[in-house]
Amino acid sequence: MAKYAAAIDQGTTSTRFMVFDHEGRVVCFDQKEHEQIFPKPGWVEHDPMEIWERTQSVIRGALSKGNIDPKDIAAVGITNQRETAVVWDKTTGKPLYNAIVWQDTRTDTIINEFAKDGGQDRFREKVGLPLATYFSGPKVKWILDNVDGARAAADRGDAVFGNIDTWVLWNLTGGVNGGKHYTDVTNASRTMLMDLKTLDWDEEIMKIMGIPRSMLPEIHSCSEVYGEAVGALAGVPVAGILGDQQAATVGQTCFGVGEAKNTYGTGCFMILNTGEEMVPSKSGLLTTLCYKMGDAKPVYALEGSIAITGALVQWLRDNLGMISNSAEVEALAGTVQDNGGIYFVPAFSGLFAPYWKSSARGAIVGLTRYVNRGHIARAVLEATAWQTREVLDAMEKDSGVTLKALKVDGGMVFNNTLMQFQSDVLGVPVIRPVVAETTALGAAYAAGLATGFWANLDDLRQNWQVDHTWEPKMDETARDEQYKMWKKAVTRTFDWVE
Ligand code: G3P
Repeated sequence: MAKYAAAIDQGTTSTRFMVFDHEGRVVCFDQKEHEQIFPKPGWVEHDPMEIWERTQSVIRGALSKGNIDPKDIAAVGITNQRETAVVWDKTTGKPLYNAIVWQDTRTDTIINEFAKDGGQDRFREKVGLPLATYFSGPKVKWILDNVDGARAAADRGDAVFGNIDTWVLWNLTGGVNGGKHYTDVTNASRTMLMDLKTLDWDEEIMKIMGIPRSMLPEIHSCSEVYGEAVGALAGVPVAGILGDQQAATVGQTCFGVGEAKNTYGTGCFMILNTGEEMVPSKSGLLTTLCYKMGDAKPVYALEGSIAITGALVQWLRDNLGMISNSAEVEALAGTVQDNGGIYFVPAFSGLFAPYWKSSARGAIVGLTRYVNRGHIARAVLEATAWQTREVLDAMEKDSGVTLKALKVDGGMVFNNTLMQFQSDVLGVPVIRPVVAETTALGAAYAAGLATGFWANLDDLRQNWQVDHTWEPKMDETARDEQYKMWKKAVTRTFDWVE
């Protein structure tokens, strides 16, 4: 009997391989960062070959740290930064261009062109998404239009596309030697090319974007055996795929209608399970797939996506050198009592939910000579909490559900100052589970469900336990006053790019 289920978590800044036991506890893991490539303002790329090398390296690293024999792994799942587009030649295995990352804004002219006929919500009814630079379909169009030889390779049927899940799966199952060119419904729902109802690629949108069907991966459920791994995991069934935010929703066991989680990573992503119902958003959220386990019916979600949260802390570290590691931001913020009157709106990739304004750019407002480094660190943390508040408000409006508490996970949930402030500005308790690595856990769950390592969703629910709860302490008048200032600050970022 296999003892473990495992997952590859290929995120925006790093790749992890994690091994879990039947109780959902972490047995061992390894993690490696990869290069962030910024060729021009607003452009963000990754090297797909580096990502695949790092993936193999963390698999080997974790297996060796935990002294694990792959035979003891029942199944491996894949979870990934979503919307990041890779186009490669399936005959050589080589990318035609770097991966264009979800945060990249280069497709703004393509988006504006599409929006001329029908506006920003032109495709929303079918795909649940507004026209925005975030999604991968227009990035594929950019590659086909701008990279020498790409269109010809696509016409020959050699160039194929995938979000990062597909790139990892194809390589993990053999690459040029029969690698599976598949994706799952959650990743497909982030391309702007999949019809949410039929769960198939939409002919009309493919045509408008000039993307041939032969480039697109086959769409599968999130939990089924797609194939067997080669390399260090040789013989292990690859049996789960979920975009990272949907994986965290599964890892948090938000299986009931009205259950929600918020993940604090590079960005922040709140997902509310809406069950078998697709809830259209009127408040700037996305209608998206939550998961589809094997042959079961698809489960839908509302999502509030925020582009920059943890990335803002990294920016303080890497671009300003104000801290030497991300955890130091809390101590720096602790050197002052409050934000000193400043608000930092990190619209580095434009504004995502609930605004969807590609032409916004970041701003610090309210500066006076009184302001010091501590205030900036505090405003950085507060920006995450206020952006989340705006998303939660939109979520409650669209769904009619009033959240009584918020389950949280991701790297920033160990920042006590932030989590307390989060609870203060939402006015509800914020709950961190024992296993905060819910993204990898969710993908391992999907894989383990497919191979019988876990029997059903109830089996998974048993594993979820509270680690810490933050209760709101802020006085309501102060909260309302600060929220008003935050919203005013946000308006100062609008229409910066002409
Ligand atoms: O939609 C983007 C999201 O999937 C990225 O997540 O955790 O890599 O920042 P993360």
